[in-house]
Amino acid sequence: MKEYKSFFRNTVDEMAGYTPGEQPKMLDLVKLNTNENPFPPSPAVLGALESFDGSMLRRYPDPMADSLCSAIAQVNNVTRNMVIAGNGSDDILTMTFRAFTAPDKPVAILEPTYSLYPVLAKMQEAPVIKIALDENNNFAMPGDILEQAKDANILIITRPNAPTGNTFPKEDIRKLAAEFEGILFIDEAYADFAEDNCMDLASEYSNVIVSRTSSKSLALAGLRFGYAVAHPAIIEGLNKLKDSYNMDMLTQRLAEAAIRDQEYLQTTVAKVKKLRAELAGELERLNFKLIPAQANFIFACPPDEDGAKAFKFLRDHAVIVRYFPGEVTGKYLRITVGTAAQNKRLIDVLEMLYK
Ligand SMILES: Cc1ncc(COP(=O)(O)O)c(C=O)c1O
Repeated sequence: MKEYKSFFRNTVDEMAGYTPGEQPKMLDLVKLNTNENPFPPSPAVLGALESFDGSMLRRYPDPMADSLCSAIAQVNNVTRNMVIAGNGSDDILTMTFRAFTAPDKPVAILEPTYSLYPVLAKMQEAPVIKIALDENNNFAMPGDILEQAKDANILIITRPNAPTGNTFPKEDIRKLAAEFEGILFIDEAYADFAEDNCMDLASEYSNVIVSRTSSKSLALAGLRFGYAVAHPAIIEGLNKLKDSYNMDMLTQRLAEAAIRDQEYLQTTVAKVKKLRAELAGELERLNFKLIPAQANFIFACPPDEDGAKAFKFLRDHAVIVRYFPGEVTGKYLRITVGTAAQNKRLIDVLEMLYK
């Protein structure tokens, strides 16, 4: 073979790429590491899957996912031209970074937050402004966030945030929407599990994009579907940057069935929230320090503040959670809320370590 020589851009050679949460092959593991829903998707999704005519797959899908986007618009009480669908909300984020970041267009993000954002910024060779959350105040936003973000073309607020799981006062977000001079992107991957959301700000402010995913509350991480709502001019721009057929035919059909079944969504979310409260109580009994959880996971600091040790002990006992090394995050575990039985197994193992 001809000797290999890299033709990649320097940035690509230098970058590390995103590290997804582990998807282990062992079936008997208690898997609480990637914030999936412990309950199945809506029966309407399974019905749509059964009635899907596979022979249609010879055709291209609707490039604009029109029927699905109309359903999204209806559910969120916005017009169809304010909606774009993506292959997971990661796809929405990819389009957004293509659109609004460049070497002379920095992005501002929280710290800690979803670790994909800096990877997408790197691909664009865009500077990243990191705005540290206050660990001593349950990871609240700093008072001078507008000042810190002033040179950014886009500010990403993850609400509830990941991996910390807390939210930020809606009035503060409204103020950012009004006063920040770039795009305010509100990543609402976990908003269905929170007390409120910012969807209405997308209709009120022409610089606001709100994104959602089906991977958590709709229990469809395997399907890959997310969407964004924003001013029609923003949606028009994002449409120019998306992959031509970013939503396959089957996903369009199943995602629409999921999004139309709001009743099932509410029931599932209520079950997860109840389990979250019970799990929080058990962790507190073991003297974990918890960040107030508004998502389907809990960011929890063990009594000895050694996240790595707890992570390894759990893993050795076939329970996987997520651990983020780092001076601040390394003290914590991010634990997805599982079924009652999964949560009990987690607590039983932790009890062996901390009793
Ligand atoms: C804050 C946040 N945004 C977006 C995503 C991506 O979700 P999706 O599965 O829709 O690509 C995740 C996934 O974990 C997330 O934590």
